[in-house]
Amino acid sequence: MDLGLKKRTALVLGGSSGLGKAVAQVLIAEGARVAICARDSQRLTAAAAQLGAEALAADLSVPGAADEVVRAAEKRLGQLDVLVVNTGGPPPGLFDVLSDADWRAAFEGLWMSSVGAIRAALPAMRARRWGRVLVITSVAAREPVANLMLSNSLRAGLHGMVNALSKEVAGDQVTVNALMPGYTLTERLAELRLDEAKLISQIPARRIGTPQDFAAVAAFLASGPAGYITGQAIACDGGLLQSI
Ligand SMILES: NC(=O)c1ccc[n+]([C@@H]2O[C@H](COP(=O)([O-])OP(=O)(O)OC[C@H]3O[C@@H](n4cnc5c(N)ncnc54)[C@H](OP(=O)(O)O)[C@@H]3O)[C@@H](O)[C@H]2O)c1
Repeated sequence: MDLGLKKRTALVLGGSSGLGKAVAQVLIAEGARVAICARDSQRLTAAAAQLGAEALAADLSVPGAADEVVRAAEKRLGQLDVLVVNTGGPPPGLFDVLSDADWRAAFEGLWMSSVGAIRAALPAMRARRWGRVLVITSVAAREPVANLMLSNSLRAGLHGMVNALSKEVAGDQVTVNALMPGYTLTERLAELRLDEAKLISQIPARRIGTPQDFAAVAAFLASGPAGYITGQAIACDGGLLQSI
């Protein structure tokens, strides 16, 4: 199937490693021109050179940074057809140990960066009557994961925004979807120090996902043929989620 991405442009936030990098790679393989964003400029530049992407260094948890990155991507690429919203996950922790500062930092990093990037990208997509917004969340948004209070709480809210926003922009042929990774082999998973054998026993597919599993679904949602899918939260989790 031709995904129709050959003349498209994309910005992948959190694109220097893990899921974001894999998504950028598959979009480029499909012929799109892509910009990636992350904080560590050395790793970002290396990833961009390896992929053949534009590099835009920024810390998305800084107020206003996400909007600026979108504007910079539009300048570098000419326009922005696909926006992949993604950053590092918030730190683990139970409710008891999280301070107001932890909640506020997670809200800025996860939520306001998403709002800022989407708000900056939407007007031009709507005017051109073509756009794809893809928000990388987590299976934790649908079924809370032990010890991930911040992620469980804030990502569920993002699904509310994705669904509500999709209705506002569908008439302009812009789709807005969330994509929920299950356990996937990236640095984030290593950071969480989970027991891999135990995880595998809980996953019906009996393996941890790869960034490439995830990127294939993302590329389809970013594609032309996916134009009638909007407002959804789609899991790529080897069958982990139990809810219908
Ligand atoms: N992997 C999994 O199993 C899994 C499961 C469920 C949900 N998720 C979620 O999916 C998202 C991506 O996960 P991943 O596994 O791909 O993580 P990862 O390998 O750690 O990659 C995160 C990417 O985001 C960038 N980043 C982090 N904080 C940023 C910031 N403030 N501003 C700009 N860029 C930032 C990182 O680069 P810099 O550090 O250089 O900024 C990196 O490029 C995370 O939110 C994670 O919680 C992952």
